[in-house]
Amino acid sequence: SLPDTYDGTVGLAIIGGTGISRLDGFKTVASLTITTPWGTPSSPVVILEAPSGAPVAFIARHGVNHQYTPSEVPARANIAALRSIGVRAIIAFSAVGSLREEIPPRDFVVPSQIIDRTKGVRPATFFEGGVVGHVGFSDPFDAQIGRIIKSCEGALVGGSKIHEGKTLVCMEGPQFSTRAESKLYRAWGGDIINMSVLPESKLAREAEIAYAMICMATDYDCFRDDAPPVNVPEVLAHMKANATNAQHLVGHLLEELVKEEHVDVLAGATLKESAKWAITTSPA
Ligand code: ADE
Repeated sequence: SLPDTYDGTVGLAIIGGTGISRLDGFKTVASLTITTPWGTPSSPVVILEAPSGAPVAFIARHGVNHQYTPSEVPARANIAALRSIGVRAIIAFSAVGSLREEIPPRDFVVPSQIIDRTKGVRPATFFEGGVVGHVGFSDPFDAQIGRIIKSCEGALVGGSKIHEGKTLVCMEGPQFSTRAESKLYRAWGGDIINMSVLPESKLAREAEIAYAMICMATDYDCFRDDAPPVNVPEVLAHMKANATNAQHLVGHLLEELVKEEHVDVLAGATLKESAKWAITTSPA
């Protein structure tokens, strides 16, 4: 069995979504059971070693057996656990529905904006219980990491592309949208839709961790009146191909991210002080 301790800090983490409950092809060096003041993460925090020897943490967002609904994911525990081992940059994966003809299933998207359609039922902040803090969230994703992801587009097989600069709608679920909602989100400028970018990305911002998401299209949601609406068999079938492509992409990304020119990215340079002026509670 794997060691349950890791001696050293881990700067980079990958969060796997539906269809990516583990990362194959890397040496696994530890499996950490971490308890935080916000509970236990969705899965053990697995420490992998990139070919360069750099450690990378991995969490399965929905649990190793996919047992947490998007509303139940212990996002605060996940982010706090990652921060506790030194994580400064997160690359998160998510299956998404496409709201645009030009983003077919099996294409990938690195979004730049979010529209929040979660319903407030998910604990979404570390600032409560006497400490009030308001972090900026105007640009929810780390643009530098996004560019590095795009630069690895050649790693994808089967003609899949990586789209950039798109708007991600995050809905509560677990039911999918109505056709009217799907059309409304398009009218609002939404390009893709999932149930998982929030509150994860907000909590990362509060924890001063740079965050980027790799969205993998699995369906056209239900905005097309002439096509069958999104359903789980369709999502899972495309996720199989997407998971293979995600593995290719992670391999290239890890090679790219360890390069000297990107050291500031892994150090969380752009987000390191995102909570610096956020707290409005007076010190006691
Ligand atoms: N995840 C994958 N497809 C989705 C869709 N159509 N709506 C919400 N979340 C999704």
